[in-house]
Amino acid sequence: MSLLFLVSFLFFTLLLSNPLPSLSQQDRSFSFSDFPWLPTQNKSLVSGNKVFAAGFIPLTSSGNLYTFSIWYYNISGNRFIVWSANANSPVTSDSSLNISDTGELRLINSSGQNLLPGQPAATGSRNSTLILEDGGNLVYGNWRSFDYPTDTILPNQTLKTTLHSKNGKFSFQNRKSLVFNSSEYWSTDNPFQKLEESGKVVQDNGATLVSSDFGEPNRFRRLTLDDDGNLRIYSVDPSTDEQEAVWLAVQEVCTVHGTCGPNAICMNDASNSDPTSCVCPPGFRKIANDNNSCEIKIPLRNPRDTKFLQLDYVNFSGGANQSNLNVQNFSMCESRCLANLNCLGFGFKYDGRGYCVLQIDRLLYGYWSPGTEAAFFLRVDKSETDKSNFTGMTSLLETTCPVNISLPFPPEESDTTTRNIVIICTLFAAELISGVLFFWRFLKKYIKYRDMARTFGLEFLPAGGPKRFTYAELKTATNDFSNLIGKGGFGDVYKGELTDHRVVAVKCLKNVTGGDAEFWAEVTIIARMHHLNLVRLWGFCAEKGQRILVYEYVPNGSLDKYLFPASRIPSLDKEEEMDPSGTDVPKPILDWNIRYRIALGVARAIAYLHEECLEWVLHCDIKPENILLGDDFCPKISDFGLAKLRKKEDMVSMSRIRGTRGYMAPEWVKMDPITPKADVYSFGMVLLELVSGVRNFDMQGSLMDSEDWYFPRWAFDKVFKEMKVEDILDRQIKHCFDSRLHFDLVDRMVKTALWCLQDRPEARPSMGKVAKMLEGTVEITEPKKPTIFYLVDE
Ligand SMILES: *[C@@H]1O[C@H](CO)[C@@H](O)[C@H](O)[C@H]1NC(C)=O
Ligand SMILES: *[C@@H]1O[C@H](CO)[C@@H](O)[C@H](O)[C@H]1NC(C)=O
Ligand SMILES: *[C@@H]1O[C@H](CO)[C@@H](O)[C@H](O)[C@H]1NC(C)=O
Ligand SMILES: *[C@@H]1O[C@H](CO)[C@@H](O)[C@H](O)[C@H]1NC(C)=O
Ligand SMILES: *[C@@H]1O[C@H](CO)[C@@H](O)[C@H](O)[C@H]1NC(C)=O
Ligand SMILES: *[C@@H]1O[C@H](CO)[C@@H](O)[C@H](O)[C@H]1NC(C)=O
Ligand SMILES: *[C@@H]1O[C@H](CO)[C@@H](O)[C@H](O)[C@H]1NC(C)=O
Ligand SMILES: *[C@@H]1O[C@H](CO)[C@@H](O)[C@H](O)[C@H]1NC(C)=O
Ligand SMILES: *[C@@H]1O[C@H](CO)[C@@H](O)[C@H](O)[C@H]1NC(C)=O
Ligand SMILES: *[C@@H]1O[C@H](CO)[C@@H](O)[C@H](O)[C@H]1NC(C)=O
Ligand SMILES: *[C@@H]1O[C@H](CO)[C@@H](O)[C@H](O)[C@H]1NC(C)=O
Ligand SMILES: *[C@@H]1O[C@H](CO)[C@@H](O)[C@H](O)[C@H]1NC(C)=O
Repeated sequence: MSLLFLVSFLFFTLLLSNPLPSLSQQDRSFSFSDFPWLPTQNKSLVSGNKVFAAGFIPLTSSGNLYTFSIWYYNISGNRFIVWSANANSPVTSDSSLNISDTGELRLINSSGQNLLPGQPAATGSRNSTLILEDGGNLVYGNWRSFDYPTDTILPNQTLKTTLHSKNGKFSFQNRKSLVFNSSEYWSTDNPFQKLEESGKVVQDNGATLVSSDFGEPNRFRRLTLDDDGNLRIYSVDPSTDEQEAVWLAVQEVCTVHGTCGPNAICMNDASNSDPTSCVCPPGFRKIANDNNSCEIKIPLRNPRDTKFLQLDYVNFSGGANQSNLNVQNFSMCESRCLANLNCLGFGFKYDGRGYCVLQIDRLLYGYWSPGTEAAFFLRVDKSETDKSNFTGMTSLLETTCPVNISLPFPPEESDTTTRNIVIICTLFAAELISGVLFFWRFLKKYIKYRDMARTFGLEFLPAGGPKRFTYAELKTATNDFSNLIGKGGFGDVYKGELTDHRVVAVKCLKNVTGGDAEFWAEVTIIARMHHLNLVRLWGFCAEKGQRILVYEYVPNGSLDKYLFPASRIPSLDKEEEMDPSGTDVPKPILDWNIRYRIALGVARAIAYLHEECLEWVLHCDIKPENILLGDDFCPKISDFGLAKLRKKEDMVSMSRIRGTRGYMAPEWVKMDPITPKADVYSFGMVLLELVSGVRNFDMQGSLMDSEDWYFPRWAFDKVFKEMKVEDILDRQIKHCFDSRLHFDLVDRMVKTALWCLQDRPEARPSMGKVAKMLEGTVEITEPKKPTIFYLVDE
């Protein structure tokens, strides 16, 4: 079932798409009399279960050259080669696979050289036969193709040697490190031993990792080092022939070394068919005949005539000596670089610990990722006029997390007319403060937070993965689970305080499927996701059958409390999250700017989940209850990554019971495959609610009485037919709506929402596009009118 929650991406490279040769002859085994075996004979050796075949395959690029390979025989369409004897030196048609007088199996090329791997050459005896076993292992005498893998290992194949990607660029060395041109970009502490049929990788020291479809029967699985430098486990469903990556080593593809050439910066662009693109930093331009590399426009001559451009979230991860200099402050790092003639820039982390790395001689393997939590300072000539366009950090803060904003509170009595008069429409001078100011405030906060961490002698942000807590520790932290702050679909949430005084939200999961290994795998993935707008996972506990997650505590509660004050909608959500403070304190009213920022922050975080880190996380339960508000109403999504731990039926029934049906995309009900577009639909509904301040399915009950009333359709008519956007605005703050200031924001929110709420998943934009629509960087055309969609309740 978990397959349904995966973003599947199928790789059809040239190498995968060899045409199937017409096979004139198929055999179970070859014996002496069948040799020599010539490339032109069109013969193949097929395993007993008809899953694999071996034989000569012509290269797509040149039909006169062949490799002797093993491929999946019974997967139709694109053939995937799992092994080649001579991937790097294809042979011509006058070559042969032959058995010598001494009984050795040889692949002889036209100059008489043996290309079959293995020293000494495979020995059997003249009466040995060549067999292709059911598991894909080609056996002759004591020689086994499994001992000489190329880019792939199959289930039960013990990994002993290096894997090389088909294009020869990347290798998986010592069973633990991914390497490009001698530089490592990924490694595991516990070297891989083998892939099991169930989708589990057995590692040294008793460690294991599991694929997301772990345990699903009747799958063909393989572990392959792909041409993009990522190591993936693929799973093929033989009934549909669809292959899907179910585990990958490098989450952020741009951190793969060699993706871009010298001086270039790799960026994720999920809207593109190629997820990575290489862009030039300011002061640099593309090299004429090489799209992946850049060159400096004004060469650095005099070290005193240089300045630095700040590139937020950029890291250059290759080059000479990348050791951390651990300096006292920023200016120390800067002067260290200035003092070195070969220093081309430096990376600096605002964590109060003086992380400072000089980039000497070359700018290699640059990439952009918010996960770096650092900035790169690029050395350019003083006369350079380019401005830095890598301002991720500041714009992220500006648009999603305003600092120190105060909002008006609703008056005691809940009469809306008086309320409307009393509300002061705060104009946001504060928001217009320059990005620099936000940035420095952020830094100050950040440094304070880090200093605190140091005082407690611990690291707040888990570097090596989430912390494993004991049940006893959590019991103490939560005072024996006494302070219940929420009851969500996934389980009860308690507030607690760890011994280091961190305040945490402890979520005790219920009805979790799967074993320890799976749980551990999922939790590790969740903890690896860093985004300003995602609730941070700090640790977990898996003891005595308990499944507990330890999250950062987000103080202001969830969005629904602000949008739908209890006094207005008393009937709903009896078992929803409780107010953290325990009492029904009045919540401030979110103004248009804040709502817009919440929308954008949530959109960016979901886009990050879906696309940016190429992680297969669908949220599957996006609704105001799962959007928590942190300091200054910075939105933080909770419960992401948990959907995989549940069954799909559970999700459907759970959501119905909890009255969240209004957020579920039609495909849930139709039992169609769930794709990222299901989250897009839910987000669209949340957007409409942000604007209207009313639950989508509640408005029907209270304001309308037509049976088939459907919020998106109604909103569509208001916006595009009647041209009366004001009719859907939240009545609480409608009077604050100043069309000069807010029309653009609100208009974008509503129109984006209607695109998200399209009936057909294909018609909805991707989450990355949604974020762009909200930002206003792409034009929003008129969508199709959403048709009736309502759930059968039983
Ligand atoms: C092998 O198949 C190719 C086409 O796939 C054909 O052109 C060729 O004649 C065949 N050779 C033999 C010896 O059958
Ligand atoms: C491939 O083999 C599997 C397992 O033997 C079988 O279930 C499947 O139907 C076969 N597919 C084709 C296309 O022959
Ligand atoms: C194959 O090997 C046999 C001896 O084992 C030899 O007589 C024959 O010429 C070889 N054929 C080719 C095409 O190399
Ligand atoms: C035969 O293989 C050897 C070893 O890989 C290689 O050096 C030689 O160039 C090959 N000959 C031809 C004609 O491809
Ligand atoms: C196969 O060859 C080996 C030695 O080359 C010999 O000992 C054995 O008896 C042979 N087996 C058969 C079935 O001929
Ligand atoms: C892999 O090994 C297990 C246990 O040794 C065995 O049951 C299974 O059939 C093997 N699978 C293949 C594809 O050889
Ligand atoms: C590999 O590294 C060497 C030296 O470190 C360098 O000269 C060469 O250009 C690099 N090759 C590629 C393809 O980056
Ligand atoms: C920054 O500007 C350079 C040069 O104009 C361009 O190549 C690059 O794509 C831009 N980068 C971003 C992140 O927009
Ligand atoms: C560079 O990109 C352009 C357009 O994207 C393409 O036409 C050109 O062939 C590419 N050049 C190289 C060397 O890859
Ligand atoms: C930059 O990349 C290097 C190499 O991957 C890594 O060790 C370092 O931690 C990265 N720096 C930051 C700030 O993420
Ligand atoms: C790298 O730089 C650090 C700090 O300057 C120095 O201690 C270390 O010896 C250098 N390592 C190499 C291999 O040059
Ligand atoms: C940075 O640290 C150095 C050494 O402690 C000190 O002399 C300098 O004044 C500091 N600079 C700033 C801007 O704090």
